[in-house]
Order: sequence, then structure tokens, then C-alpha cells
Amino acid sequence: MQGYPSDHEILSVELLTVILLFFMTKMESTNQQVTGARIPGLAVIVMAAGLGKRMRSEQAKVLHRVAGRPMILYAVEVALQVAGHRTAVVVGHQANDVRQVIQAGIADKAGAESVVIVEQAEQLGTGHAVLQSRPVFLGARESPPTNYLILNGDTPLLKEWTARNLLRVHQSEGATVTILTTMLEDPSGYGRVIRREPSAHHRGGLASSEVLKIIEDRDATLAELATKEINVGTYVISGEFLFRALEKLEPDNAQGEYYLTDIVRMAVSQRHRVIAVTLQDSQEGLGVNTRQQMAVVEQVLRQQIREHWLDAGVTMLDPASAWIDAGVVIGNDTVLYPNVAIEGTTEIGRDCIIRSFSRLTDCVVGDHVQILDHSVLRESQIEDGAILGPFVHLRPGVVLRRKAKVGNFVEMKKTELGEGSKANHLSYLGDAMIGKGVNIGAGTITCNYDGARKYQTTIEDNVFLGSDTQLIAPVTVAAGSVIAAGTTVTDNVPADSLTIGRAPQVNRPGWAARRRALLAGDQLEETYVRGEKKSRTLLPPQASRSTGQQQPDSTKGKPTARKRVRAKK
Ligand code: UD1
Ligand code: CA
Repeated sequence: MQGYPSDHEILSVELLTVILLFFMTKMESTNQQVTGARIPGLAVIVMAAGLGKRMRSEQAKVLHRVAGRPMILYAVEVALQVAGHRTAVVVGHQANDVRQVIQAGIADKAGAESVVIVEQAEQLGTGHAVLQSRPVFLGARESPPTNYLILNGDTPLLKEWTARNLLRVHQSEGATVTILTTMLEDPSGYGRVIRREPSAHHRGGLASSEVLKIIEDRDATLAELATKEINVGTYVISGEFLFRALEKLEPDNAQGEYYLTDIVRMAVSQRHRVIAVTLQDSQEGLGVNTRQQMAVVEQVLRQQIREHWLDAGVTMLDPASAWIDAGVVIGNDTVLYPNVAIEGTTEIGRDCIIRSFSRLTDCVVGDHVQILDHSVLRESQIEDGAILGPFVHLRPGVVLRRKAKVGNFVEMKKTELGEGSKANHLSYLGDAMIGKGVNIGAGTITCNYDGARKYQTTIEDNVFLGSDTQLIAPVTVAAGSVIAAGTTVTDNVPADSLTIGRAPQVNRPGWAARRRALLAGDQLEETYVRGEKKSRTLLPPQASRSTGQQQPDSTKGKPTARKRVRAKK
């Protein structure tokens, strides 16, 4: 999600002055552009071991996708952006799957190699989860981190800038524990931030009362439940304090878990400085515990993505229906018609047109490409100036070279279509290498599969395939050849040849006229099956019998013939 600008401002920071707020606003405008610069002495711990019972899912919560990307990757990406080389992700439920998703999701990102996956075998709470990462940081050769940024794995709207700012305030305030909070109209389910004077908070966005503790929803009193300030689940904690405090946690709460949030109370009682930074845009702090919450987060993220690409010069005729995943890139002057889905890691170049009801998943599309309505494209590469659709289906492994054209009802798989080549109508092209300037006639089929194996078809430059050509692979049609319509190509075709393979045509003058006369009902033969009259067939003319040609089918004319027979009787 790097690069989606947000206008979040910090509304209130405990005991901060107007000057500091001004300073922070200044910093924001410069720092939002700065991504990836790692902060010295900082380590990040991401918690991702929970199952997420409230999701009612077989799948670990952090693997559920938000804007097309597994939820955990949002937090891991923020971690990489701010800490670069020192990140631990605590996994537990479906640990192997989560590990794989993380490794695959960040493989090409700077600092990816330094993400350490830590296992929390039993999920005994968020405090216990963080404690599992201690050996990563304290056993290392490097000196221990000065500060830890701790992130929940289920808060995908959190932005890099906010994490950086939290750390900045933590340092400038000399705090031991800094928590991120926000105000929610409906705070239910979240941990509440309890301050010494609850009502003093948030006046004019300035000084507010001291934080005393975070109390979980289940453990809160009625008075505490009324608090609308919630714990977002993002913390900066001093290195000297964190693990010593975690060791002392007790699971004395409704869930019998070791709560990370209890270290706030502990720090306060030990007279450490605890401060809270409050997000003005509460959406950024939304956590995902339920499918309903996930749906809300999905909407917010989709809207942010649309705004980002609109700002970047993409036209959307109906932005609300443009469905763009987080990992997508779109060039300027590209036009998205209503109801398009651009998914996964798809990259679209400049000045393209994507018409309605088309779906592109993990594709690379060049510049000036037109994709007409109802096209479904997966894991394929489309070069500049190509034209596709309507109703094109590209399965994985297709390469369309420059200015290639693929028309309606064409399915392709693992096939390259050369520069300027055309497959305009009703074809299946699979496991084929097709050169430049080739014409693929309507209804052409590569017969690539014999029920056991797949075989390759090669069509060299400037070949002309007539309509309804079948290519029985493996087979090669060499450059410049012409294949007559209706040909089944079973053998290799030499260059510049004409190939025809069809049953010879037979014309029977007068046959059709005779059939019309028969259908008029003069000569009918009745067919009996087990004594019952089943159907009536036309008496075959002598001539047809002797050649073995197919008889005109009586069933076509049945109702008329029947009526006439009845009328006769
Ligand atoms: C947590 C906070 C709550 C805060 C909310 C914000 C605690 C005790 N509570 O509550 O104050 O308002 O987040 O969204 O921290 N996890 C583990 N191991 C565990 C338990 C959880 O790794 O043993 C991970 C989960 O996978 C998840 C994160 O920690 O990514 C938070 O856990 P979750 O159960 O969702 O906590 P909340 O009840 O939402
Ligand atoms: Ca949660």
C-alpha cells in the first residue's frame, strides 16, 4: 500500500504544545513521501498467531484477503518500510501457510530477507506472543533495539507515516510506552483507553489527561465501556522496558490470557512515561475481528486505492464500480469503464482502454492496449497496441506481442501470438508458438491434448490458417504456408505450401427438389417397432441408396407429413 497518500493528522498528543503539533504537521507533508528509510535502533514485532474465532473460518484470520492481498502483508509491509532489517512476525495458527504467504508476499521487497518468523505454539495472548520474539532480538550479535514498534496483524489500514510518527513522538517525549488510539462512535470489542480524567481528553486537540491503563472490552466496568477512545493495537515500547515487563504479566482477566495491553498499567505504576497519540481519521485504526469489520475495511481500502489511481491520472467512468486490488499498477490516461476488476499484481500501461465486465488477474499489459467487454485474462502478458475482446479468455501463460488481435470467443493458454497476428473469432489456441503476421481463421483449434499428454503446435511467420483448421499437435506449420479452410493438419507443413485436407465434395443435381416432393407426403413408409407405429420415414430414392449418401431426415418434416397422412385417412 505504499504510496497511497493519506491526510491523517494527529489531533491530540498528551501534554504536547501547539508548537509540537505545528512541527508534526510540517513533518507529515515531507515524510509521507519518504518511504523505506529504515529507522536506526528500531525493531518491529507483528502479531499474527491468532485463529480469529470471530471470523468463523477454517482459515487463519490474517490470511483472509483485503483488497486482494492477505491481511498480514499490510502490517509486514509497514514493518519493512520503517525497520527494514529487524522484523519478527509471530505466527501460530496455520503457521506454515502464514509463513509462506509472508515469504511470497515480500520476496521482492527491500529488507525481506531479514524478516524472522517466530512460532507461538500456544496462543496465550498478545503479551505472550510478543514475548516469543525475545530470542530474535536479544540473542542477536547486534546490540539490542532501542525501541520496538508492535503491530497487530489485523489492522490493515494502518499507514507507514503513522508508525513513523508514533516513534517520533515517543522519542521526542522521552516516553517508555507510546500507544496509538482513536475515537470510535461504536467502540465495542476494542480495548478502552482509561485516562485519569476521562472528560478532559480531546479538548481542542491539545493537552489531555494522563493514560492510566488499557482495559479490554470483556474486563471493563460499565463506566469504562462508555469510553469511546480505543486502543488501536499499535505501540512503541522502549527496548529496556519491553521484555522485562512482559515476563511479569499475569493472565488475570476474563480470557485468562497474557495481555500485552497490561504493560501500560505496569509502566504507569512504575512511573514510566506513557503517552497516547490519537488518530484523527479513526478508520485507520479499524481492526478486523469479524467479517462485518473486514467488509468495512475492504470498502475503505478500495476507496483509497481508487483515489490514488484517479490522482495518478487514470480515468474511471464509474469509480465506485472499479475494483482494483492493492497490488495493481495503472498508467496514466488509461480509461476504466464501469464494472472492471483489476486484480492481484496486474500492471497496466498508459493510454489503455478496459471495457466493462472485464477481469484481469496477475497480468502485465503494455501501452495503448484495448480490452473490450467481458474479457477474462489471467497471468498473461499483453504488449503495446494489442486489441482483445469482447469475450476473450486468456488462461495462464499467454503472450500477445505488439498489435496482436484476439477477437470474440477465443480461448488461449500457454500460447504466444506474434506481432500483428490475428485470432479474431471462435478459437482455442493452447500450447502454441505463433509467429508474426499470422492469420488464425475462425474456429481454428489446436488439438493439444490426447487424453494423457499435452503437445506443442508451432505456426511460423506469415502463415494463413483458413477457417475451421484443426492442428493435431505436435505439429509445425512452416513460414508462409496457407492452410485451406476445414483442414485437419496432422503432419508438418513445409514453408510456403498450400495444404488442403477435406473430404471431397459431391453434388447431386435435383436431389433437393425430389426431397421437397417427398415431404409433400406422396410416398411415406411407416416404421413399426414391436408392432407399434413409431415414425414415418421418407422412402429413399434409389439413387441415394446406391451411393451410400445420407438420407434426408424425415424427422425434420414430421409434423407436416403426419398431418397429411391423417388427412388422407
Ligand atoms: C487487541 C487488543 C485491544 C485492541 C485491539 C485493536 C490485546 C489484549 N487487546 O484486541 O486492546 O483494542 O486489539 O484491534 O492486545 N495474537 C497472537 N497471539 C495470541 C493472541 C493474539 O499472535 O495469543 C495476534 C492476533 O493474530 C492478532 C493480534 O494479535 O493479529 C490481536 O489479537 P486479537 O485477538 O485480534 O485481539 P483483540 O481482541 O482484537
Ligand atoms: Ca483484533
